[in-house]
Amino acid sequence: MTTTDNNLPQKEKAKVLAAKKTLEDFVFDDFIVGIGTGSTIKYFIKALSELVVQDELEIITVPSSFETHLELARSGLSISTLVEFPELDTYVDSADIVTSDYVLLKGGGGALTMEKIMAKAAKEFIVVIDNSKYPKDLLSHPVPIEILPLAVNTVVEPIYNLGGEFKLRYGKGKIGPVISDNGNIIGDVYFKQQYNPKEIERNLNNIPGVIENGIFTLDIHRLIIGHPDSVEIIDQPSSHSKKEL
Ligand code: A5P
Repeated sequence: MTTTDNNLPQKEKAKVLAAKKTLEDFVFDDFIVGIGTGSTIKYFIKALSELVVQDELEIITVPSSFETHLELARSGLSISTLVEFPELDTYVDSADIVTSDYVLLKGGGGALTMEKIMAKAAKEFIVVIDNSKYPKDLLSHPVPIEILPLAVNTVVEPIYNLGGEFKLRYGKGKIGPVISDNGNIIGDVYFKQQYNPKEIERNLNNIPGVIENGIFTLDIHRLIIGHPDSVEIIDQPSSHSKKEL
């Protein structure tokens, strides 16, 4: 921790510690590193850009969103895409919540489709969170969803038939719903009753017009949990899952 980091609120300290530990232990020279989106990942990018200069590392980054692309460009890191590198050495991202069975909900920041593609395209998917996000119940957060604009009303009933209520997401600074980096609509699906995440992830994606949803049941290779003064690492968390999803 630097002197500046010491002045951060506890939750931010936890994010910084987890981001730095991920970098120290799991990112190596010559790696192609997929970079997620959000405030935790911003700390990771800062630490990565410092390390690349200090140790003269040859690392290529692949951003998962336009915001991350901007942040990487500002940091002077080498940037590429999945077209050049369809296989990533590692993909580092955070999540909105992680359940006790290591299911993630993602997309609270509007980025989810590229994130899922990249998590799948990586040899290692590393999830970095602060301890306030784990363990959390699936119902504690709605399921973010990306919809083709002209399908915005046709998806409502099929989502209702799965037990969810679809709501458009509105933000600040623009009139109208939140639009994703891919030019689609971002909404949220509210469930009132416990659901099977694997089934709902698949069934939501089967609705015509749904591009992707924020339930991530794919394998996580490491879960890095930051506490204000320490870091916990869970290797192969998916294999410790108590439930057959
Ligand atoms: C982006 O849409 C999400 O999937 C992020 O992974 C998530 O919101 C984490 O962001 P924070 O690190 O800011 O909590």
